[in-house]
Amino acid sequence: MDKLMIKGGKPLEGTVQISGAKNSAVALIPAAILADSYVTIDNLPEISDVQLLAELLKEIGGEVQLNAQEITINPAAMISMPLPNGRVKKLRASYYLMGAMLGKFKKAVIGLPGGCNLGPRPIDQHIKGFEALGAKVTNEQGAIYLRAEELRGAKIYLDVVSVGATINIMLAAVRAKGQTIIENAAKEPEIIDVATLLTSMGAKIKGAGTNVIRIDGVDSLSGCRHSIIPDRIEAGTYMIIAAAVGQKVVIDNIIPYHVESLIAKLREMGVTIEVEDDRLLIHNSTKKKGVDIKTLVYPGFPTDLQQPFTSLLTQAQGTSIVTDTIYNARFKHIDELRRMGANVKVEGRSAIINGSTTLQGARVRASDLRAGAALVVAGLLAEGVTEVSGLEHIDRGYANLVEKLVGLGAEIWREKMTEEELDQVKS
Ligand code: EPU
Repeated sequence: MDKLMIKGGKPLEGTVQISGAKNSAVALIPAAILADSYVTIDNLPEISDVQLLAELLKEIGGEVQLNAQEITINPAAMISMPLPNGRVKKLRASYYLMGAMLGKFKKAVIGLPGGCNLGPRPIDQHIKGFEALGAKVTNEQGAIYLRAEELRGAKIYLDVVSVGATINIMLAAVRAKGQTIIENAAKEPEIIDVATLLTSMGAKIKGAGTNVIRIDGVDSLSGCRHSIIPDRIEAGTYMIIAAAVGQKVVIDNIIPYHVESLIAKLREMGVTIEVEDDRLLIHNSTKKKGVDIKTLVYPGFPTDLQQPFTSLLTQAQGTSIVTDTIYNARFKHIDELRRMGANVKVEGRSAIINGSTTLQGARVRASDLRAGAALVVAGLLAEGVTEVSGLEHIDRGYANLVEKLVGLGAEIWREKMTEEELDQVKS
């Protein structure tokens, strides 16, 4: 197992290419189950979640070829193999196998998903949707059993705006009989991306990207080719890094309006940003003002950027308040930031940051993916060397992180953890 070593304090300059969106990729790969022939998806991020999903599709009989940024899936020989344990538990997005397998085979057994521990992450809205479509859903010893004689379109109102439930219901509904209407749907760009793939496969979907999605079921779906949208959270992470330690950094291959909420907040802090068609230029600004942020569903400020943004706020003048309304307990990075000298306290669902602190390199642990991103930002800012363990979380979602940062001039490298360090992690 590796750890990340960062020698902080180096100003960064240059261009970083943003990869395809993780949270699209992890839904698009299961969506291929619904087709009857080859599906090719490109602009894939090179992350461990993608590898895990590719293996899962092989487990159920799929013919899968994964070459760096492209995957080709032939679902012709897939069967509804029960997946109660094993790889499914390692990633949150394995819940998309429920919708896709239910849609295709009318039955599925999927272990309850793992993924980042951000406090309670129920899937009641997914299940409510499957039941409305006619499935019988039971939870037996930590696995969800789904079965339907047939799936029939229904009107489903989501009590909570959920990315996962919106996509999962779309997956189950595209081959159902009749029309499904999802009300109070999530509007994230990744939902549009999944709808685009399904539409290329022959599905009939209207309204993706708004809060009402209409799906007219079809009997079969064909293969297709699809290119994934850029990862707005990876882009946002590099924007935060550029604002923290950049001289002049270009964030390339992005869709700027996907990161508008972050652009607005960085500008409010005093960061200079030039917006072009598919890239942003972020200029060095030494004095930054503290700002408050509140995470909201898209197009509000994304919860996934709240953690790395907190590290940036340790450098801003005055007091800033970060409130997470999506995941109330997404603050596991704060203890680690404090270890590095940050002056932050958590009160309820808010972190209160007293800025203008000098961070010091320390041994810290990433408890989840975006906590890892927060520690990378802090490590790049800190005096001395920061050692970040828990790299397996970061590898789930950031493609070629070390290479991209080295390309900008950062001193960052991976090192094998010693036996002693591994023992400490286990205990
Ligand atoms: N929720 C429910 N019931 C449900 C589903 C969700 O109460 O059935 C609640 C959640 O507990 C949360 C809120 O609704 O408070 C929103 O959750 P959502 O379902 O939208 O989250 P998700 O689909 O499980 C995706 C991303 C997360 C991202 C959230 C919010 C994927 C694989 N994951 O999760 O990404 O934080 O949307 O935008 O798409 C990450 O990339 O680091 C990450 C955690």
